[in-house]
Amino acid sequence: MIIYDYVIIGTGVAGLNAARLIPFDKKVLIVCKQSPWECNTFWAQGGVVRARDKDDIPIHIQDTMEAGAYLNDIKAVTLLSEKSIDVVDDLINNGFQFDKNAKGELAFTKEAAHSRSRILHADGDATGRELHMFLLENCPHEIVTASIVIDLLIKDDVCHGVHILQNRKDKMIYAHNTIIASGGVGSIYKYHTNSITISGDIQGICVEKGMNLRDMEMIQFHPTVFVDNKNARQQLLTEALRGEGAIVEDENGYPFLKDYHKDCELAPRDVVSRAIFDYNKKTGSQVYLSFNKFKKNEFKKRFPNIYKNLKDVGFDLPFERVPISPAFHYSMGGIEVDLDSKVLGFKNLYAVGEVSSTGVHGANRLASNSLLEGLVFSDLAVKKALNTDFKIDAKNYPSDIKYFTLAKPQDKAIKNALRNIMWKNVGIVRVRQDLIDSLEEIESYLKEDIGRLLYLRLLTAKSIIEGAIDRKVSIGAHFIKDK
Ligand code: SIN
Repeated sequence: MIIYDYVIIGTGVAGLNAARLIPFDKKVLIVCKQSPWECNTFWAQGGVVRARDKDDIPIHIQDTMEAGAYLNDIKAVTLLSEKSIDVVDDLINNGFQFDKNAKGELAFTKEAAHSRSRILHADGDATGRELHMFLLENCPHEIVTASIVIDLLIKDDVCHGVHILQNRKDKMIYAHNTIIASGGVGSIYKYHTNSITISGDIQGICVEKGMNLRDMEMIQFHPTVFVDNKNARQQLLTEALRGEGAIVEDENGYPFLKDYHKDCELAPRDVVSRAIFDYNKKTGSQVYLSFNKFKKNEFKKRFPNIYKNLKDVGFDLPFERVPISPAFHYSMGGIEVDLDSKVLGFKNLYAVGEVSSTGVHGANRLASNSLLEGLVFSDLAVKKALNTDFKIDAKNYPSDIKYFTLAKPQDKAIKNALRNIMWKNVGIVRVRQDLIDSLEEIESYLKEDIGRLLYLRLLTAKSIIEGAIDRKVSIGAHFIKDK
């Protein structure tokens, strides 16, 4: 039987960067649910934060804390910012190309709630896709596709690996260290910007195993999404557009964000999303993103993918404005980890990237801190695991392996009901009684004869709703309103 040194769940920035940093002579297996491209990193547009220089570190820390409504862990935020220069420069030194300006210098841009231009981008508005391609090309270890993790092999405080269904066959993958990098929860919401594979399954397993999930109620809605198609995944319009001059307006061209926050288009993401939601509810007006400030050729060069995608559906940017709505974008909470991204209470289990709660994001993530978090904390996790060199012991393998049916006939209807509940009742503005009713509904679905994946999603949804009920006061992305 093979015992791997490391099994990594997920092929986004955090998983692949961890893989890149684990030496070639270690036995590593990376498990991904569908194809390696089905991850949130691939769709990320904006960029990666890098403190401009040492003097910018305290300012970046302050911006991150302020956006996060000071619910952040200052130690984690400090680590993130202090390490930002090294991890980004390491990518550049290994051949990754961020966009440059006319002078051949790195082209830093600004996004909402940043007080300085400190975001690097690649191929204009396809930073995630470029970074993902780079990490895949530089991945020294084996990736297995179409492999769904349905359980973690846990006994006491040790994770012995993962139980996967690979092409519907059960397989136990034993490993001395397990790194969870499976992303957030997008697919439990009706409209989102995420990859279709991102559905909170692993968070559900963690609930089942009694691990601590923290701040799960902190759900980020991206303010500017072109919600146009029948699929759940919708077209994002990056924050960098507003950072560089795009305006949110009503159908009469009135730029109403000035009535909500002094920083208008550059207010924190939760504020802008709530303002759009509120204005639309109060006035009934459709909300648009307009690009009057941009010149056509500059726009096309800076945002080539948005230009093309919107052209394909009939919009001539920057001349025409685009109807927008907020949509689910990012889960700030997750599996509680320490400053090495090690899961609390475990000897050899790590969680990195969106699935984890490092404490970096607080109640609202600062734009473009997520790719950076994936890079920084995967680096810390790998360093810690290599130094610890923990070995599992075959004598202690869990003996109670359970076998599951992945999906059952009535799953589809319940899955759709769940996505509607989350969208309607656990969204931008929450009403306490609606949360209590939603929790009851989820609990009743959990008692039905359902497949494993839906069961796990429901457990994750339950943890989000319980978090929202327990947090009685509005803060950041969690906004409670009396009926
Ligand atoms: C965006 O490009 O607006 C998304 C960036 C992020 O989520 O940080």
